[in-house]
Amino acid sequence: MNTIKAAVFDLYGTLFDVYSVRTLCERLYPGNGDVISVMWRQKQLEYTWMRTLMDQYRDFESATLEALRYTCGMLKLPLDADAEAHLCSAYLGLAPFADVPGALQSLRKQGLKTAILSNGSRHSIHRVVANAGLTSSFDHLLSVDEVRVFKPNQRVYRLAMDAMGLEMDEILFVSCNSWDATGAKYFGYPVCWINRNDGVFDQLGVEPDFVVRDVAELASHFSSIAAHA
Ligand code: LAC
Repeated sequence: MNTIKAAVFDLYGTLFDVYSVRTLCERLYPGNGDVISVMWRQKQLEYTWMRTLMDQYRDFESATLEALRYTCGMLKLPLDADAEAHLCSAYLGLAPFADVPGALQSLRKQGLKTAILSNGSRHSIHRVVANAGLTSSFDHLLSVDEVRVFKPNQRVYRLAMDAMGLEMDEILFVSCNSWDATGAKYFGYPVCWINRNDGVFDQLGVEPDFVVRDVAELASHFSSIAAHA
């Protein structure tokens, strides 16, 4: 049995708060910030899954834009080119969760390699991470652009092993999105589910190996987690 040598993170919803766009949504559409940000994210995910099933890949930024158009259409809210550009660029400036910068540092001090494996395009991932000043916290930023399908398609998860030159059981896959943790578990990685919001894990036949509240808890319990992986 190998020991864990790397933590590979999902980006949206795990390290960065997708609902941090709520503030701008609320400013542009008073009273609708919550409903827009929630419907927008859900539709964005659906579009990535549908595009994978239909074999019609367009990158994550397209899914973000298409989902925004759908959301405003559904809510009967006007969306001009300026609002569209403004809202989509907010997705490139998402805020990291408060525990993330310190927890990444702590994991790296414990000798772990760190990476992001995201449905985001190369451009989006680099921009989001750089905007938050976190570029030096990662050894690899990996995008599904390489394989032109989205998680949880199994081809995506292999990208981390290949890029990092590690075996499957040397990588702890970490996600807040239970559908993503499920996909990684079926692929074969040891999986840590971050349950920030007291949620329910998807009922698709596998369970995560570890469940923590946030990345800080993962960092502080990492040695015992690694011993049981
Ligand atoms: C990610 C999203 C979709 O892959 O959570 O980063």
